[in-house]
Amino acid sequence: MTHSTSTNQWQADTYDHKLDFVSRLGDGILSLLQPQAGERILDLGCGTGDLTAEIAAAGAVAVGIDLSAEMIERGRSKYPHLDLSVQNAYTYRTQEPFDAVFSNAALHWMRDAGTVAETVALALRPGGRFVAEFGGHGNVAALVGATEAALAAHGYDPAGRNPWYFPTVGEYASLLEARGFRVMWAQELDRPTPLKGESGVRDWLDVLADDFFHDVSAPDKASIYQMVEDHLRPAIYVDGQWVADYRRLRICAVKVAE
Ligand SMILES: C[S@@+](CC[C@H](N)C(=O)[O-])C[C@H]1O[C@@H](n2cnc3c(N)ncnc32)[C@H](O)[C@@H]1O
Repeated sequence: MTHSTSTNQWQADTYDHKLDFVSRLGDGILSLLQPQAGERILDLGCGTGDLTAEIAAAGAVAVGIDLSAEMIERGRSKYPHLDLSVQNAYTYRTQEPFDAVFSNAALHWMRDAGTVAETVALALRPGGRFVAEFGGHGNVAALVGATEAALAAHGYDPAGRNPWYFPTVGEYASLLEARGFRVMWAQELDRPTPLKGESGVRDWLDVLADDFFHDVSAPDKASIYQMVEDHLRPAIYVDGQWVADYRRLRICAVKVAE
C-alpha cells in the first residue's frame, strides 16, 4: 500500500543549526506527556532525537523512530545511548506495547493520518496515552500563500505541492475517536514563531518547504524566494525579526481498554 507523503528529504545539519526552535518549542507538549521513570515511550517522527533524549532523561525507556535516514544518523551521533531507528509511521509495528506515544512537529508530514493513528493505537497498551503537537488548521497560511502566489507568478502551477495535513481539533479528535481513543484534552493555539536571522524565511523554505520547489529551476527559485520575502515583509517582519505564523494543535488521548 502506498501513502501520500512528501519527498521527506531532510538536511539534518541545517535542521539542527537553523531550525532548532522546532524541537525547543516541543518542550511545551513534553510537559503534557510527563514521562515517568520506567515507562516505555515511543517518539514518533523523532527527527534528530532531541526530545527523545529528554524523555530518556526523565528515566523512561525512550524509543525514537523516523522515516529519514539522515535525521536518524545525526540523532545517533548526538545520542549514541538512545534507541533510534529508521521506520515508517504508516507501517511500524511492535510486539512490546508502549505506555505512551509522543510526537512533536511530525504528524502534519503524514497526510494519511488515519493510518498513522492506527499505528499509534496498535503500539499502545490499553489505557496508554497519545500526546502530540503538530500543525493545526491554518498553520503557516501566510508563508504558504506567499509561496504559492510567487510560484504562480513564475508560471508554475501551485496545485498539489503542499505536503501538509493541518486538521482542525474537531477533525483530528473524530479521527482518533473512530480508532478507539478517548480524547481527554485538545487545544488549537496561535504560536507566532521567530525564525533565526535575516535568512529566516529562506532557511524555512529550504528545509521545510522544498516540496513546493521540486521542479523549479535554480534561477526561478532565487527569484521566487525574493518575491516571497518582499510579499511577507510588511506582514511578518517585526522589529528586525521574521516571525512565522505558526498555529499548533495539541492533543492528549487515551487508548480505551478493550
Ligand atoms: C519537523 S521534523 C520534527 C522532528 C522532531 N520530532 C523534533 O521535534 O525536532 C518532522 C519529522 O517527521 C519525520 N517523518 C515524516 N514522515 C514520516 C513517516 N511517515 N514516518 C516517520 N517519520 C516521518 C521526518 O523525517 C522528520 O524528521
